Amino acid sequence: MSAVTENEIVALVDAFYAKVRRDEVLAPVFERAIAPDSWPVHLAKMYDFWSSVMLTTGRYKGNPLGVHMRVAGLEASMFARWLALFRATAEELFPPELAASFREKSERIAESLQLGLFYRPALGGLNIVPGSPR
Ligand code: HEM
Repeated sequence: MSAVTENEIVALVDAFYAKVRRDEVLAPVFERAIAPDSWPVHLAKMYDFWSSVMLTTGRYKGNPLGVHMRVAGLEASMFARWLALFRATAEELFPPELAASFREKSERIAESLQLGLFYRPALGGLNIVPGSPR
């Protein structure tokens, strides 16, 4: 399979966030977090992010988990919706193999974000924190 191009990444990101901004569940979260005139900044970051993920260009230097921890109103149930829109966009724009590759990466990253955001080991079990009082 030939690698995705930077122009294709731009097309995917633009088309995806156009859908996000029309989605009744996701749009309010994004509109709260990103001022209208800051969208170009967000999109540019996302070009860098997907370029780093798909082409290992290292252009994205950020901390997605830390950023999402501060996104007001972000709920676990929203991930399925985000992923479905992302997958649909990739399938509209790209041949099946490339679309599948974007889908796999997005699902893997979403999984790790969800673990970081929502996984809380039950309290009251073994307390094996080094040095904690008995
Ligand atoms: C429920 C699903 C999600 C929601 C509602 C969401 C929402 C947001 C919002 C509102 C921002 C902008 C935050 C800000 O600038 O203050 C953001 C940034 C970002 N999102 Fe998500 N996101 C979701 C899932 C994902 C997934 C699955 C990925 C990756 C596959 C992702 C990648 C990113 C990246 C890379 C940024 C930029 C972080 C930075 O500023 O360095 N997001 N997201």
